[in-house]
Amino acid sequence: MLHALEITASTVDPALLDLPWELPLEDWPADILAALPRGLSRHVVRFVHLSDRVIAVKEIGETVAHKEYELLRDLSRLQAPSVLPTAVITGRTDAQNEELPAVLVTEHLQFSLPYRALFSKYMTEDTATRLIDALAVLLVRLHLLGFYWGDVSLSNTLFRRDAGSFSAYLVDAETGELHPEGLTEGQRTYDVDLARINIIGELMDLQAGSYFPSEDDPIEVGDRIRTRYNELWNELTAEESISVDQRWKVQDRIERLNRLGFNVGELQIKSDRDGRHIVIQPKVVDAGHYHRRLMRLTGLDVEEQQARRMLNDLKTYRAVTEQLDRPLELVAHEWMRHVYEPVISAIPPQLAAKLSPGQIFHEFLEHRWFRAQNAGHDLPLEDVISSYVNSVLPMKRDEAVLLDSGADTTFEMSAVHLEDEPIDGMLGHADASNDPEASPDSGSWAQEAPQPRMRFVPGLGLLPVYE
Ligand SMILES: Nc1ncnc2c1ncn2[C@@H]1O[C@H](COP(=O)(O)OP(=O)(O)OP(=O)(O)O)[C@@H](O)[C@H]1O
Ligand SMILES: [Mg+2]
Repeated sequence: MLHALEITASTVDPALLDLPWELPLEDWPADILAALPRGLSRHVVRFVHLSDRVIAVKEIGETVAHKEYELLRDLSRLQAPSVLPTAVITGRTDAQNEELPAVLVTEHLQFSLPYRALFSKYMTEDTATRLIDALAVLLVRLHLLGFYWGDVSLSNTLFRRDAGSFSAYLVDAETGELHPEGLTEGQRTYDVDLARINIIGELMDLQAGSYFPSEDDPIEVGDRIRTRYNELWNELTAEESISVDQRWKVQDRIERLNRLGFNVGELQIKSDRDGRHIVIQPKVVDAGHYHRRLMRLTGLDVEEQQARRMLNDLKTYRAVTEQLDRPLELVAHEWMRHVYEPVISAIPPQLAAKLSPGQIFHEFLEHRWFRAQNAGHDLPLEDVISSYVNSVLPMKRDEAVLLDSGADTTFEMSAVHLEDEPIDGMLGHADASNDPEASPDSGSWAQEAPQPRMRFVPGLGLLPVYE
């Protein structure tokens, strides 16, 4: 059958040719499948082990497969948060020489979860809100690049944990269109309206299955996509008139954008007719402000809020080790050696699939705070690492691999499958036992949590204490 296959790809892993393309995806043997959570979809999708990675294979019409492949290539060229395309394979026939559908192959997005895999008993309003916030950021980022999605929904998005929040990635680009000249307001509004309708529908579906609290209103929660999107879009793009004697407000706007995770690539500044005002408007904004800063300092590639958290920890480390006069670049190496690496290298290989390294480090920081709080004083780093690795991490469910890869098929992840999951292993944190969500969004309490024991550092104020 192989001679009939046509593969479109920028590079082909020869192992791709060994997959059983002559079988419908439904019939692919269990031993090559990776058991990972998969969202709802019309098409058949399978996750497959290929060399040392996992790919997602979707059976789909030939024209659509090529269109989606090209769009995903454009998006990855533009560094948009989306899955990466690997190949389109056409010309498949079975043993009886009957035609089989084309497939689109993408790289499986590691540590990502479909929204239905993010809870066990039911999704709380709080989680729904955080997912919608992440989706609003994704939608704004795509719109800034001139990408009209056309089918925005929770199902067409993948989520990664990002400290106490989530970050969202586009997974289904089938209906998308790229307009390099930018989107019209009408196109943007239409996309947001569609997102709102789809999200409300998805929350209503959850509610009908008792997976969303009956007292919460899906419409009210779903409306948030519009408000969050509009707030963010305005902050990133709107003109602002500033009185000439208040020029500090320019810096203020830039810092506000940084806090939202964006960098200003180009800022347009015009003076007003009356000469007493200037008008500023961001022209080019790039997402990933903290991500890029941490990457430059340490080479670590983590999510935005994880990066923000790590940068804070790094700055705290510089202060409490009395190195405020040394450049952050130099201290960063030391912080990596003395703080980050000891934590990550203490994770035994069998636990490494639980969470991404960025999230593990974030949770370690939470745990360090929790231990210090309980003890009333800080504890040596090795001690905290050992209690995190031995008592907290093993309680977490695997996110890279949810089932043994020997399971007979990949599966539709539903709330029910996770009923028996252990709840948060955060050493009996007060909220954990009441948390209906088995896959704890542990960062949420951390955000509200009081800080660890503080020390006054001249020039920086109160900072948490390291051992
Ligand atoms: N590269 C990937 N990484 C991780 N998960 C993926 C990937 N590709 C697909 N999936 C999973 O498969 C699901 C279905 O994919 P997708 O939405 O592309 O299918 P579809 O049939 O086109 O959907 P729809 O019904 O919206 O048309 C996704 O929700 C996601 O859970
Ligand atoms: Mg889809």
